[in-house]
Amino acid sequence: MSLILWAVIGYLLGSIPFGIVITRALGLGDLRRIGSGNIGATNVLRTGNKPAALATLLLDSGKGAIAVLLARWLAGPDAALVAGAAAFLGHLFPVWLGFRGGKGVATFLGTLLALDWRLGLSACGIWLLTAAVGRISSLSALVAAALTPFLALWLDGPSMAAVAAFMAVLIFIRHHANIARILSGTEPRIGSKP
Ligand code: G3P
Repeated sequence: MSLILWAVIGYLLGSIPFGIVITRALGLGDLRRIGSGNIGATNVLRTGNKPAALATLLLDSGKGAIAVLLARWLAGPDAALVAGAAAFLGHLFPVWLGFRGGKGVATFLGTLLALDWRLGLSACGIWLLTAAVGRISSLSALVAAALTPFLALWLDGPSMAAVAAFMAVLIFIRHHANIARILSGTEPRIGSKP
């Protein structure tokens, strides 16, 4: 199968907005009008429903991982890179939500875990460590995103580093409002509402 087909498959998998699907199914309200308005697990947690937030985290990361694993199994490592990047883009720009999607952190982590478990575990570890210290989800995501391309270069080489850097740049762009709140000291802690 061509790389373009894997880009389409990855995009379609990544575009499933699990945060929206789960909160709607559970009658938790319109996620777009809750907290930061983001469709990710951090914002689902602001509904007060921890299992829903955990499910969103697992499914949003799982869709990135599935895209990579499927592509690698059926078409090899290049297709896996393309499918992973496309799944990430699908989460950020889902056709189903008028291309207004999430910030990509869970899908980034799931994609990395499937591309190279050492890289994925390192990124998750950085996120967890910084979250344990700072208790700010967006800050942890930004630190993990910033460090991952360097880790990718060290562990895997330039192709993986390029994909990691591409995703990291988009994560930073998507977190522009979070960055402003971090700098002004108003970014909410994990579990509290903005
Ligand atoms: O994973 C998204 C997180 O980094 C920020 O989410 O809802 O606090 O903007 P939120």
